[in-house]
Amino acid sequence: MQNLRDVLSNMIVLSYLQTRQMIEARDHGQSVVAVSTDLNLTESEVKLQSENVQFPTGESLDWKSVQEISDNETACYRVEEYTAKAIKGFSEFSGRVFGLMPTEAAPTMLISGIPMHRIKDTNPYQDTLNKIKAIKPVMGDVLDTTTGLGYTAIEAAKTARHVTTIEIDPMAQEIARQNPWSQALFDNPKITQVIGDAFDEIEKFEAESFSVILHDPPMFSLAGDLYSLEFYQRVLRALKHNGRIFHYIGDPDSKTGARVTAGVMRRLQEAGFIRVVRAPRAFGVVAYKK
Ligand SMILES: C[S@@+](CC[C@H](N)C(=O)[O-])C[C@H]1O[C@@H](n2cnc3c(N)ncnc32)[C@H](O)[C@@H]1O
Repeated sequence: MQNLRDVLSNMIVLSYLQTRQMIEARDHGQSVVAVSTDLNLTESEVKLQSENVQFPTGESLDWKSVQEISDNETACYRVEEYTAKAIKGFSEFSGRVFGLMPTEAAPTMLISGIPMHRIKDTNPYQDTLNKIKAIKPVMGDVLDTTTGLGYTAIEAAKTARHVTTIEIDPMAQEIARQNPWSQALFDNPKITQVIGDAFDEIEKFEAESFSVILHDPPMFSLAGDLYSLEFYQRVLRALKHNGRIFHYIGDPDSKTGARVTAGVMRRLQEAGFIRVVRAPRAFGVVAYKK
């Protein structure tokens, strides 16, 4: 029987970035091209035949489907049983459509068309590294309040003892499962996934459980609870002495970002954090517990 790692490593996921390379190579008369079949993580040799494209896994895809992928710059596709299916889904839980959108590096997740990572002048992977850098060293037990594609949880788990990550919407987990960049979320034993509302789930941990909390919520207008004084008081309780939180907010130079940042900093201080400092490169703030 195949284990999960084998299934995932055999998974072929493509976007317009790879299929355009295939079409271009075919048009130049090539019969083989090296492209990524896991959204830029690794490269494989793909055979370009007259009817279809053949992958090293034995899967193939006809040129019509390859063209369809090339025509869509906002979706990633999983190749399965000789067909390409867009990685997206409607969440019964939230009534929102979720999807995986490619970039030159790691993909981002779209919720109702809104990207969950920074993609302008950067990419989701660099965005994740900036968040981790703002709060490093990331050691001990870590709480990641909103899993999304799991990038912050996966990066934190590289140095932390253990990472617990919470996601409210099962559809986000479904999308992550099909994303090659999210694999460690499912097979790194240092990561525990919880499905639930971070606002409630954080109360279930004992006081002083975490050294570091990574808080990367959707924008204020979509998740107001996660920017509230009450939530910050809950965060303070869950943090150990000398613990700290990185709170992603958004572009501090934008009108909305500046206003939300000022409100977040005020409420974090009101909640009892002794020091609250801006982390503008990571579009957030870091707050320290005594
Ligand atoms: C900006 S994304 C998180 C990105 C994540 N840090 C990553 O590295 O991929 C926000 C996520 O929070 C989830 N979410 C929204 N409200 C939540 C809540 N109350 N509790 C837990 N997760 C929530 C959304 O479904 C979405 O997947």
